Amino acid sequence: MELGNNERLMLRLMLSDPNEAWEMSKLLDGTGLTDQVHIAGAGEYLKQQGLLIVNETILTNITLGSEGNKSIEIGLLELRLWNYLLSLKNEDRTMKNLINSDFERYETGPGVGILKGLGVNIEAGIFTTPDDSLVTSKINDRVLFLNKINQENVISGDLDKNMIKHFSSRKNLIQIEESIRRNWKLTDKGAKYDSKALDVIELIGEITPELLQGDSWKNMKFKPFDVNAPAPTPAGGRPHPMQSLIERIRSVFLEMGFSEIEGDYVQSAGWNMDALFIPQSHPARTMQDTFYLSNPDKIEVDEKYLDLWANVHENGHDTGSKGWGAEFDKEESKKALLRTHTTVNTVRHIANNPDLPSKVFGIGRVFRQETIDRTHLPEFHQIEGIIHEPNANLSMLISTLKTFYSKMGYPDVRVRPAYFPYTEPSVEVDILWRGEWLELGGAGIFRPEVTEPLGTEWPVCAWGMGLERLAMLILDLDDIRQLYQPDLERLQKMPLI
Ligand code: PHE
Repeated sequence: MELGNNERLMLRLMLSDPNEAWEMSKLLDGTGLTDQVHIAGAGEYLKQQGLLIVNETILTNITLGSEGNKSIEIGLLELRLWNYLLSLKNEDRTMKNLINSDFERYETGPGVGILKGLGVNIEAGIFTTPDDSLVTSKINDRVLFLNKINQENVISGDLDKNMIKHFSSRKNLIQIEESIRRNWKLTDKGAKYDSKALDVIELIGEITPELLQGDSWKNMKFKPFDVNAPAPTPAGGRPHPMQSLIERIRSVFLEMGFSEIEGDYVQSAGWNMDALFIPQSHPARTMQDTFYLSNPDKIEVDEKYLDLWANVHENGHDTGSKGWGAEFDKEESKKALLRTHTTVNTVRHIANNPDLPSKVFGIGRVFRQETIDRTHLPEFHQIEGIIHEPNANLSMLISTLKTFYSKMGYPDVRVRPAYFPYTEPSVEVDILWRGEWLELGGAGIFRPEVTEPLGTEWPVCAWGMGLERLAMLILDLDDIRQLYQPDLERLQKMPLI
């Protein structure tokens, strides 16, 4: 098998001292190669040819952590506590005195435990030991250990195993890092290799149009490529997985004939809720659930809509409904808030285009007062959409959602009856994922109480789906927070969407 130039350079260098175990820095210097990857690659190939062996030693490097550095500066906790106790008469070495001393609570708490571990007893609130000097000497050993680490980068083999174990169990005192050190050594076969056969040859690594214009390539040698050779994964830039997912959803809806709409984060309660026939007494409207704003605290709403919503909410207006009955408060409608769902965008779209059939969607951020946990964030995204046209109906809605989720890779979709104040019928939308039905959003046909004030008599298919839930399925995550943590390593490994 023909050797490449990197292999030739490396082998020729190693033959200059065939018994040497060559380290990376010497190989780089000697060959003139500048990238460790080239040495590692050439070494791998020569190893496969039986010409050299690679020795690997795992090194454990120990350095001080943040608490370790602090101990060097102000003294190890047990040393300071112990010196304090030693400064007192035996009968004054009490827990009470310790608590009232200058030590902070976060120090005395764990500190007492550490002293106990060193053989200090507490009898009737007094610290006692069988032999004070024993405690002093144990503490000194610990201090010496930390000083040693502080002075030089030490390799674990040189240190007391029990001390390493002890300090590893304490937070941030020491840091242990493993690294691999390699060296390369010729085998007998390698040492016998004829170095005259190792001149660097001109190899063609890249076939360019210029090269192919002439005939010279016919007599040249081509660089062999080993597609199975280990290589570093290129850490190039890539869009954030959430951004890629949004782009993909966007293209699916565009492909299905929808147009995209947008809206503001800041909305009035009127458009966010009253327009959707959500009663003003609804629990979701409280401060616990919704972020109301103080600046601006009010947003003007067209009086025409306030009148219509007031009528519909109080008595149903001309919709055939009886409304909610309770008195409608127009000031409540003007309250400014962060939108709690993107349904506000679709109703506003209908209000602006009541006579125009439309199929629109939007992917937007929404805000709710949620405690952050594995499945909840106070800011998340919805995939919203409507079909507003004279013959819109429930089966059209369901088949649209089925088509959408099939295109996203989830062909099994089902709907279950549900309740929203603004749709009738209302459904919850589930998809089948690894044998389980998972709820991804809500949908339905807008009620006349919603559409009449908007100025249309056509039915409206409407839906609002969770984006993060879908992302978690696609990216195989079990914690929603992982989507937004700036953990580059995890992000790098997420699948391409
Ligand atoms: N707005 C609802 C939600 O936030 C979803 C929905 C949209 C339901 C449209 C029905 C119609 O969960």
